[in-house]
Amino acid sequence: MVKPFTEVTLNNVDWSISNATLRLLLTHSARQVGIVKDVSRTVRIGVLGCGTVGSGLLELLESRRSHISKTSGVDLEVAGVAVRSASKDRNYPVASELLTTKAEELVTSDDVDIVVELIGGIEPARSLCVAALEAGKPVITANKELLANVGFELYELADAHGVDFLYEASAAAAIPIVRSLRESLVGEDITRIMGIVNGTTNYILTRMDEEGADYSAVLSDAQRLGYAERDPTADVDGFDAGAKAAILASVAFGKKVVAGDVYHEGISAVTQNDIEFARNLGYVIKLLAVAELFEPSDESTETEIGVRVHPTMVPKDHPLASVRGSFNAVFVEGAAAGELMFYGRGAGGLPTASAVLGDLIDAATNLKRGAHEPVPAGDRATIRPIDSLHSAYYLNLEVVDSSGVLAEVAAAFGRHNVSILSMEQTALPADEVRSGKAEARLIFITHVAQESDMQATVADLRKLDVVAGIVNMMRVIA
Ligand code: NDP
Ligand code: HSE
Repeated sequence: MVKPFTEVTLNNVDWSISNATLRLLLTHSARQVGIVKDVSRTVRIGVLGCGTVGSGLLELLESRRSHISKTSGVDLEVAGVAVRSASKDRNYPVASELLTTKAEELVTSDDVDIVVELIGGIEPARSLCVAALEAGKPVITANKELLANVGFELYELADAHGVDFLYEASAAAAIPIVRSLRESLVGEDITRIMGIVNGTTNYILTRMDEEGADYSAVLSDAQRLGYAERDPTADVDGFDAGAKAAILASVAFGKKVVAGDVYHEGISAVTQNDIEFARNLGYVIKLLAVAELFEPSDESTETEIGVRVHPTMVPKDHPLASVRGSFNAVFVEGAAAGELMFYGRGAGGLPTASAVLGDLIDAATNLKRGAHEPVPAGDRATIRPIDSLHSAYYLNLEVVDSSGVLAEVAAAFGRHNVSILSMEQTALPADEVRSGKAEARLIFITHVAQESDMQATVADLRKLDVVAGIVNMMRVIA
């Protein structure tokens, strides 16, 4: 933990100065006596990982080199590329003398000024970032899992060493949302962020909706196209979007929010049937990441943050409804700015590498100026539990088709103060019957209710003899 102030005695006077000021003074003095490495025009980069994003970055570094030199005044040069297997075929050819399997040596090499971590996962990415930061090297990463789990340890280390730790690509790949929140919206009172921040799941849901495509076949396509994580359950089970939600909440609200704070559900329970009902009712299903700030109220005496990821029924006329394929979008609501939407490619080698390159140029420029960007800080967030959420809900259940069933089902809603907005009944075709007593499907949309009441309703419905099964429950943007 970095102490904010340091006691210094100068000329028998006790001074209390901020650590940032102390660092500036030390850096200035170090420059005077030549301790700080003088970075020449050429900034040498150590790239960790040469998969989808790493290859994209090497391609961009090559194709944009002279433009970057002209516009930013820095020459970026690759000093080495660390990989797991040096003999593997690469999407982008890498000179064999640049390749190494010794990432630990590359990050501390005197020949490397800036480290770019594009391996993924927590270890060895964490240890390599720590080694680089402790050696006084700026680090760029696209690794949301790392940031959402141990990011604050790394932010503090970077701050203590006075170097950049930048991560634009981690939240929504090509979309410059981190920089926008950190810089342009730094004075804004942000109340809510809603985002489609996982390209793989948006790609799958879009193809299921538009082509009636099969879930598993489309997931394979997303893997082939380089959208999915090494372990795609991180995408489809909502962990990836959850990590991104934690990162965005930390930057937007200035509090420490970590992966474990995020309530998450994935898309594997979403059926073709749900997609069709949603369409007929005027909605489209999206995996949304939502981060909300709740000021003290009758229910709580302190500011709380709610962070959640789940399939959501989005009205067709909402700006997020039109985000298709692997595209991402982040919808920001601010007290003064109003509503803003950031849209772009949320996955893929070159789009992600574009954001990494932007960070790299910033870090190279800062390195030459002896400056660095602020990192997320603040107190640990008080997390509002999902049970306190207020939302409208969609419920898809299969029931016995006989008199009195509807009254029994409606009574369960009534017992928990959940008011029904609309209900639709359809007979179940024989090939959809999953249990002997399932004869009809009931689709409900509720008015806004409290999550705990809706969960209690669902628990009650499960106990009814006339209910054959609860197929799905989803939150609805009312
Ligand atoms: P890949 O799996 O395609 O590439 C990972 C790379 O890391 C490979 O080149 C692999 O080497 C290398 N690697 C693995 N372990 C080690 C190790 N111990 N030492 C050195 N190198 C190692 O991943 P991506 O490029 O898709 O993703 C990289 C990061 O970017 C992840 O954090 C991901 O979450 C993030 N990201 C990815 C996006 C995307 O669309 N793909 C978008 C936004 C962020 P080898 O090739 O020899 O196996
Ligand atoms: N697997 C991630 C996605 C990559 O599909 O969004 C981008 O972070």
